[in-house]
Amino acid sequence: MIELRAPIHEDLVQPLEDFFCELTRSSWMLFHEGPGKPNFVMGYFDTQEQAEEAWGFLRKKFKHLPETFDSIQLEDKDWKEAYKEHLKPWNYENLHWVPSWMRETYPVPAGDAVIWFDAGLAFGTGDHPTTRLCIIRLIDFLKNHPAATTKVVDAGCGSGILGLSAVQLGCQSVAGFDRDPESVRVSENNRVENNISDKNISFYHAGLEEGFKLTGTADVVLANIISDVLCIYADELIQSIKPGGILVLSGILNKEQETVRDFFYAKCQESWEKVEVDGRMMGEWSDVVLFRI
Ligand SMILES: C[S@@+](CC[C@H](N)C(=O)[O-])C[C@H]1O[C@@H](n2cnc3c(N)ncnc32)[C@H](O)[C@@H]1O
Repeated sequence: MIELRAPIHEDLVQPLEDFFCELTRSSWMLFHEGPGKPNFVMGYFDTQEQAEEAWGFLRKKFKHLPETFDSIQLEDKDWKEAYKEHLKPWNYENLHWVPSWMRETYPVPAGDAVIWFDAGLAFGTGDHPTTRLCIIRLIDFLKNHPAATTKVVDAGCGSGILGLSAVQLGCQSVAGFDRDPESVRVSENNRVENNISDKNISFYHAGLEEGFKLTGTADVVLANIISDVLCIYADELIQSIKPGGILVLSGILNKEQETVRDFFYAKCQESWEKVEVDGRMMGEWSDVVLFRI
């Protein structure tokens, strides 16, 4: 494993973060040691050639990146240990997201729901605020609606973590789709790893333009996708919600929240009889939730 590392100007941090968030399987991460210290972009690749090719690709998009980078050969063991160090269990109320290497040691309280996830998944190991914002909304919804009859769609499913969690929370009709075939494969693997029946969840290879034709409408649609894409497919997203249901949009930067909120609120008012809207923030990320009354 090659670790690529290059210092970057702080003006590039946000655009790079936005760009990496768009990628389904990102080999990149940003690193900042603390106030007054430099920012770094880091990437992980199997070979030096792949690292060079990926750097060339990134420099085409971000012309102010330095021409060269440092690379370090990591032992597989170091890489896995570093990854384990980075990923920690997380829980919200009765749902736990736990790395699979902690299966033997993590105590899941009786009656609680758990998703075990492995290293090297597509986007969605549960450590990103945008994923957490989505699942918190589903858990809140299920406080007032019976899970067994709540239909959930995970739009842009990545690793499948949101849809699979919905099943573990008791939802019996769940579907997910992603425009990236690798994400669909990873979601299926995670379904099997978590002993979840394919009777409760189906994953499809589809984009937002046709995904809801395959899944049908839902009580809860979770869409953690960058805001530009959410806005392009606003009509499809809005039409996917059953009366009484909620549309949960995440993947929104705090500075974009108001714009996305106003945009969707106006469109929902046109399509639905009555709508309420809410937004939360976590770190620099936000959600926008539209309630179809
Ligand atoms: C930020 S990840 C979210 C993954 C997971 N749902 C989560 O919350 O952790 C966004 C996912 O949306 C997918 N995606 C992006 N644009 C899409 C589109 N137009 N149609 C369907 N999927 C899309 C990407 O491939 C990626 O897997």
